[in-house]
Amino acid sequence: MRGGILPPSAAHRDDLGTDATIYERAILPMTRPRFRWPRDLAKVRRVLPGYLQKAPPPGLAYEASWVVRAKVRNKTVGFAWVVAGVPEASVYIEETAVVADMQRRGVGSRLVVEAVRWMAELGYETVTITPISGTAWVERLGFRLAGHGLYEASTAGFG
Ligand SMILES: CC(C)(COP(=O)(O)OP(=O)(O)OC[C@H]1O[C@@H](n2cnc3c(N)ncnc32)[C@H](O)[C@@H]1OP(=O)(O)O)[C@@H](O)C(=O)NCCC(=O)NCCS
Repeated sequence: MRGGILPPSAAHRDDLGTDATIYERAILPMTRPRFRWPRDLAKVRRVLPGYLQKAPPPGLAYEASWVVRAKVRNKTVGFAWVVAGVPEASVYIEETAVVADMQRRGVGSRLVVEAVRWMAELGYETVTITPISGTAWVERLGFRLAGHGLYEASTAGFG
């Protein structure tokens, strides 16, 4: 983990999105040589395309790796995974996923907002994401195309 990064663990009860959805922050520990996904995240990751499920975590994830979980009655229904970025003041949303029967209810958007808010609190200036399920939703959240499919948002607007 990069120096200076605090590991806050906070749960925020959601007033948007679905009823009784809780957004919970955690550091996602990365272990070498074989990283294994926590079971709850592995289940949600089944909605991702196969190539993403098979891919190993990127090198930058071993520098810093955070996860925001969306939970309903203590069951994980979605997550946003953020890893260290380049340059250092930037971080990258590596994955977002929401279980099939909870999609299109605002959970994915809320996960991204929670992740960006957390990164703002940690002092990061920009957050990037490469959306693969359309771009309208990240643009709606304030991300702008930075090039080659990469969208960027300043954390300043996420109070
Ligand atoms: C992408 C994803 C995380 C969004 O989560 P979500 O909870 O459905 O997101 P929201 O309800 O906040 O919806 C955000 C917008 O995303 C878009 N969207 C979500 N699912 C979509 C789908 N299956 N097809 C097309 N657009 C979709 C829509 O524009 C939607 O807004 P709308 O419902 O007002 O039209 C979720 O659909 C998912 O897990 N998809 C499969 C995995 C994936 O593609 N992950 C992203 C790559 S890392």
